[in-house]
Amino acid sequence: MERYLSSPVRLLLGLICVLARGTTAGEGVVVVAVESSKGHLCRTFPQHTTFPRGFPSENASSVGVCALVRPELTQPAPYSHIVSFTSSGVSVAAGINSSLALWLTVGEETHRLNDSLKGEVWNMVCVGLSAAHDTPTPEEKHPPPKVNEVWASLQGLPLDVPLGVNITAWEEDVEVCVGTRSKWYASFTGFVTGVTLQVGKGELTPDNCSLLLETNQLTAPLNESWTPHGPVFALEEDLRQPCDTSVLTLVLREAWGHDKALRWCRSLGGHLPTEEEVAAGLVTLKCTSEEHLSWMSDASERDEGPANTCPVVLADGGVGRRPCLSELECSLCQVPAGLRYTLYGARTDFDRHYRLSARQDDSFLFQGETSNITRTAAGWTLQSRLHRRQLHLNGSVGVMGRRAWRSPTHAADTLTFTVCNAIQFSSNDGVCVLRSERCDGRVHAPDMSDEEDCGSRRLLRKDAHYDPGVRPFAGQKLTIYYWFEAMLVQKMDAEKDLASTDLNLHLRWEDPRVKFVDTKMGRNSFPCHQIWTPSLLMFAGYYIGPAVHPSANRTLCYVYWEEMPRQENQMDDPFMGRYMTRTNISQYRNFLVTYPCMLRVSRYPFGRYMCNLTFSLYGDHENVDWQVMDLRQENGNPPIMNYYGDHDLFDYKLEKITLDVHHNMISFTLHLIGQPDYHLMSNFLPSFLIFGICYSSFYFPIAEFNERMHVSLTSLVVLIAFFSQATNSYVKTPYYKLIDVWYISLIILCCLVVTAHVYVNYLRVQRVTSHSSLAKKVLLAKRFNVGCKIVIITLFGLLVFLFVLFSMDII
Ligand SMILES: *[C@@H]1O[C@H](CO)[C@@H](O)[C@H](O)[C@H]1NC(C)=O
Ligand SMILES: *[C@@H]1O[C@H](CO)[C@@H](O)[C@H](O)[C@H]1NC(C)=O
Ligand SMILES: *[C@@H]1O[C@H](CO)[C@@H](O)[C@H](O)[C@H]1NC(C)=O
Ligand SMILES: *[C@@H]1O[C@H](CO)[C@@H](O)[C@H](O)[C@H]1NC(C)=O
Ligand SMILES: *[C@@H]1O[C@H](CO)[C@@H](O)[C@H](O)[C@H]1NC(C)=O
Ligand SMILES: *[C@@H]1O[C@H](CO)[C@@H](O)[C@H](O)[C@H]1NC(C)=O
Ligand SMILES: *[C@@H]1O[C@H](CO)[C@@H](O)[C@H](O)[C@H]1NC(C)=O
Ligand SMILES: *[C@@H]1O[C@H](CO)[C@@H](O)[C@H](O)[C@H]1NC(C)=O
Ligand SMILES: *[C@@H]1O[C@H](CO)[C@@H](O)[C@H](O)[C@H]1NC(C)=O
Ligand SMILES: *[C@@H]1O[C@H](CO)[C@@H](O)[C@H](O)[C@H]1NC(C)=O
Ligand SMILES: *[C@@H]1O[C@H](CO)[C@@H](O)[C@H](O)[C@H]1NC(C)=O
Repeated sequence: MERYLSSPVRLLLGLICVLARGTTAGEGVVVVAVESSKGHLCRTFPQHTTFPRGFPSENASSVGVCALVRPELTQPAPYSHIVSFTSSGVSVAAGINSSLALWLTVGEETHRLNDSLKGEVWNMVCVGLSAAHDTPTPEEKHPPPKVNEVWASLQGLPLDVPLGVNITAWEEDVEVCVGTRSKWYASFTGFVTGVTLQVGKGELTPDNCSLLLETNQLTAPLNESWTPHGPVFALEEDLRQPCDTSVLTLVLREAWGHDKALRWCRSLGGHLPTEEEVAAGLVTLKCTSEEHLSWMSDASERDEGPANTCPVVLADGGVGRRPCLSELECSLCQVPAGLRYTLYGARTDFDRHYRLSARQDDSFLFQGETSNITRTAAGWTLQSRLHRRQLHLNGSVGVMGRRAWRSPTHAADTLTFTVCNAIQFSSNDGVCVLRSERCDGRVHAPDMSDEEDCGSRRLLRKDAHYDPGVRPFAGQKLTIYYWFEAMLVQKMDAEKDLASTDLNLHLRWEDPRVKFVDTKMGRNSFPCHQIWTPSLLMFAGYYIGPAVHPSANRTLCYVYWEEMPRQENQMDDPFMGRYMTRTNISQYRNFLVTYPCMLRVSRYPFGRYMCNLTFSLYGDHENVDWQVMDLRQENGNPPIMNYYGDHDLFDYKLEKITLDVHHNMISFTLHLIGQPDYHLMSNFLPSFLIFGICYSSFYFPIAEFNERMHVSLTSLVVLIAFFSQATNSYVKTPYYKLIDVWYISLIILCCLVVTAHVYVNYLRVQRVTSHSSLAKKVLLAKRFNVGCKIVIITLFGLLVFLFVLFSMDII
């Protein structure tokens, strides 16, 4: 199989990536940093827009993706995707395990390749697949293509990939991802630049790094064509770095012992040479004064056990073993030549960036444009040609990391000199660990500084003159977003006219005087008393009323992120944390408040009543703008609050709870009605029936006075009993309610019935002289009885009519 095809065949169709952020050509390359295993970045190419009529096709039977990858050494996941693409329904991904061995995933299969990536340097990784069409048969005119080869290369050198089965492909969009979007695999932690998607015939592999970067000229804004998920961000890297393979060999004379030499070399961004590199003559021996010269290799090559020896280069170039912690004259450290060192700190009179250069006398210096850092007898000196300033680090062997530099006139300045990159944290002595390992409860840096200054003290950073008694934006408008939830109306005491409500209050506001450092996704809590929080007064009533106090408080302050926040790097020492410039502070309060309801329930059990509670911002409350969040709002009506409790509150029924905002006050109103259904069944219907019985006595023969009196008086007594029982059981008030009026009216009507019976009887039994006058009297009594029937039923009808009007709130 021909591995490299000539350039005319190489058909670079989709050149992608470089997430433009105003990159000026030649200045640097844009790099995507994937900060944790949850991050990835993907782009989809709709099939018919990018590729000529489907892939694979007659002219394009191969698709591949290449990327320059710089994995960070510490990989928590046993297997992580670096870059992947899905084409024709087949997914191909390059990944690494925790020791950076390269793996290839094709569909479900995973193959281990016979090579490894190098950590903390740029690697060029390509993966791809080729497919073939079967010859058309009479049944199938266009047989689906079959993937018959998967290939991979590292640093432009092809790797053997065994592919067990042929995979049938189908037409589909092509998707390229940095990291993984598959939930089975993690994403690597590190950097990617120059992702190039190629479609052509045969195998497509760029020969070298420069080619990959050169073809990577198409810039696509991160926001449109690529979709980032999780902690993925774009940054600019030095163009010289990714492709530079030259190495400087430094002689570390002061580093005593293997561990110290290893640490120092790593803080310089280099590694101790391995036995193979010495054997292959890639290391020039410079330290010639003693028999044994330099430690080499990594901590992993140390012997375990009491002897504990390390490989060492002898003066004659041979390799031997010596106890690891003995003193040696010097160590050799190999540092990539293009590495850029950065000086962070509050001083502006020195260069920010430096490069390492070795000098004739085996010593080295850090050379900036106008300033340099050199070794002196006493320690290190940072001097600027432009400003004629000098800072000293006396008595220190190491120069990397966070150190107090002194000048004869100034007090000490803490400056951080480091090779660490955007996704790393620089420990105090310059060793880089992943930023996600900062404050994770486990020590990673040898000086343990990655676990210093953690916790909520670290989260919250306040201005020097911060006063928690003064509100943010003092004198200007402050917007407070709020959101109420009523959990439960616990009690409605009608007699004492008290209501108890369990409330959740969410407040959100901005305080530019507070910064939040290295916040994580989700909730970042801190103690509320450390900052200004709105203090609230509560009173019963509508805008004015007696003050009330909550009886139980639970208060929580936090900043919350649904998505991983993109934090800004504006601190003097970026490794001490990133912070957000504009942050919403959230406060959650839960309390139980008991307040006089001041209900006037004269229409009880009909009508609507309101019970109000008002919150007012205490203190400097001018210019506060309350904004309701996430509440249902009906057209023009006040917003409705969520309520999770019971709606049947003994004598009342809770219809809804609304909120009303007036200047610096929020009123919330319980909208109540009586329990009309219940009272209809338990009071109105029985009393109506009893009254019916009372009234029915009119239809008894007028001669049966005793029966008439018996029935009507019994009804009257029953009505009175009902009334007294009802007044004792439902809401007690010092005034008459509609239901009382109903009973009293019925009792009066029933009394009238009784009186009418008595009068009818009086008319009937008057002494008479003649038979004809007896007949007359009986007739009169009968007429009077009919008249009473009509009058009483009319009065009753009027009563019901008025009652309905009152209960419907019409009058
Ligand atoms: C393949 O390439 C030839 C010549 O360049 C062209 O005529 C033909 O249309 C191409 N086929 C497809 C499917 O693009
Ligand atoms: C990573 O893969 C390499 C090569 O297959 C293997 O030797 C090594 O043990 C693996 N490392 C881990 C931590 O699994
Ligand atoms: C890996 O490659 C080396 C030399 O290139 C060879 O000696 C070794 O056998 C190979 N290992 C496998 C598993 O193919
Ligand atoms: C896969 O298909 C190709 C051509 O279509 C054939 O040459 C190869 O032998 C097949 N491989 C397997 C494992 O079936
Ligand atoms: C890499 O490719 C570029 C452009 O093709 C070429 O100029 C350069 O010499 C190549 N470098 C190496 C090391 O092959
Ligand atoms: C995407 O970014 C580009 C350049 O940064 C900008 O011009 C464009 O308005 C952005 N588009 C959207 C939808 O935000
Ligand atoms: C370092 O800078 C100082 C001041 O600019 C200069 O005098 C000195 O020669 C420089 N040292 C080296 C080795 O370049
Ligand atoms: C540090 O040493 C330099 C000479 O190397 C000397 O000039 C300077 O005063 C010393 N600084 C302090 C603070 O001791
Ligand atoms: C309760 O508040 C509402 C406005 O939400 C108001 O119309 C009503 O008069 C208030 N009721 C009392 C008793 O203050
Ligand atoms: C509830 O909080 C308020 C103000 O924050 C405070 O004055 C009151 O004492 C607290 N009540 C309880 C029971 O903690
Ligand atoms: C703060 O929260 C409000 C309401 O959710 C939102 O409209 C605003 O954009 C947020 N401000 C910031 C800086 O996140």
